[in-house]
Amino acid sequence: MSETPDKSSNVVWHHSTITRKRREEKNQHKSAVLWFTGLSGSGKSTLAHAVEEQLYQLGLNTFVLDGDNVRHGLNKDLGFNNQDRKENIRRISEAAKLMLEAGIITLTAFISPFKEEREMARSLMPHGDFIEIHCYCPLEVCEQRDVKGLYKRARTGEIKDFTGISSPYEAPISPELQVNTHELSLAECAQLVITLLRDKEILPAI
Ligand code: ADX
Repeated sequence: MSETPDKSSNVVWHHSTITRKRREEKNQHKSAVLWFTGLSGSGKSTLAHAVEEQLYQLGLNTFVLDGDNVRHGLNKDLGFNNQDRKENIRRISEAAKLMLEAGIITLTAFISPFKEEREMARSLMPHGDFIEIHCYCPLEVCEQRDVKGLYKRARTGEIKDFTGISSPYEAPISPELQVNTHELSLAECAQLVITLLRDKEILPAI
């Protein structure tokens, strides 16, 4: 769990008259957090954006929080040691929680390598609203793809604490969904996510 000090003791919560329920009624769909986790190069961002495109075309309110982008702004003060990764996930899960309240279907694409932090994120959301999706791809395949050239640099030691090489990745034990991105096409992976959303009645059944 995060060791961020809690300095909010003299702050009083202000309730909005525009509740999540009212926002969902206006949007005509439920909000949710789709939490994509997996190694660098496993296809999290690609899949999250592909799913978002489909949801957007169906008229739903969506947003992708993507590790590579968020680390340029909100989390640009954070690196990749264990403590910073925890803080990265803590801030993202709080941001995702706000977006859940705002009635949005949020898709997060972070390695989020630690089980404890993913469980912390889950615990922030009402039961059933946090949907963990493991983008599974063997390390050898991610390394072969090496889209950003980072694995090569991690192997030579130029990049320290690299997930899968010199920093651990704790795979989810019972995610809501596992997609094997090395075996299925992008369209097939996206379809699995869409089907899950229909099963969970976040998307209307067809
Ligand atoms: S997390 O572990 O804190 O969840 P996050 O998803 O935000 O990671 O960022 C991962 C992205 O940062 C990778 O896709 C990669 O492009 C880049 N990166 C840079 N250094 C590292 C590193 N040491 N380990 C993993 N990813 C890294």
